[in-house]
Amino acid sequence: MAVPGRLTLAVDALDLRPDAWVLEIGCGRGAAARLVVEKLTTGRYLGVDRSETAIRAARERVPGADFRCEALERLSVEGEFDVIFAVNVNHFWVRDPAAEMERLLALLAPGGSLLLCYETPGDRSAELGGRLSEVFARHGLRPEVNVLGPKVFAVAGQSPRASQTSHR
Ligand SMILES: C[S@@+](CC[C@H](N)C(=O)[O-])C[C@H]1O[C@@H](n2cnc3c(N)ncnc32)[C@H](O)[C@@H]1O
Repeated sequence: MAVPGRLTLAVDALDLRPDAWVLEIGCGRGAAARLVVEKLTTGRYLGVDRSETAIRAARERVPGADFRCEALERLSVEGEFDVIFAVNVNHFWVRDPAAEMERLLALLAPGGSLLLCYETPGDRSAELGGRLSEVFARHGLRPEVNVLGPKVFAVAGQSPRASQTSHR
């Protein structure tokens, strides 16, 4: 199955270490999961999606990865992740995602990164990038907006907590 270009661009932008702990929100059918797992050795990937159909397909597609059927609004995941990312999950800009951002920040390891990537239908990159940057800044993340490809952009920020070894 062909992997959409936005997912290749997003996973490359994560710049993953082989031992990284990675959480993906809205993992869909596991296309990005496969790309991530290929880059990990001792690391860990956990994909979360609210759709049971998507999670079933993801489990078939990437048997070595860990997937859970959960909504971002009711996340029960535990752990300290070096990287949390989401691609084309609109939740972050269509409403005020304050509670969800707080939950994700609590799941980030010290110095860990949050990256939200979107492929915009028209060219709304600047508008959405601005809106998401405000959300990041409100939660203490210094946002960096990068154009990854045609109509694909990402907003990334690092956990403000001091860097230290934690989960390993
Ligand atoms: C547009 S699809 C993108 C899938 C994949 N990330 C990609 O870019 O191909 C959005 C995915 O996020 C999931 N999703 C949307 N809102 C969600 C939420 N609040 N909690 C968990 N999953 C969510 C949907 O079920 C869907 O699988």
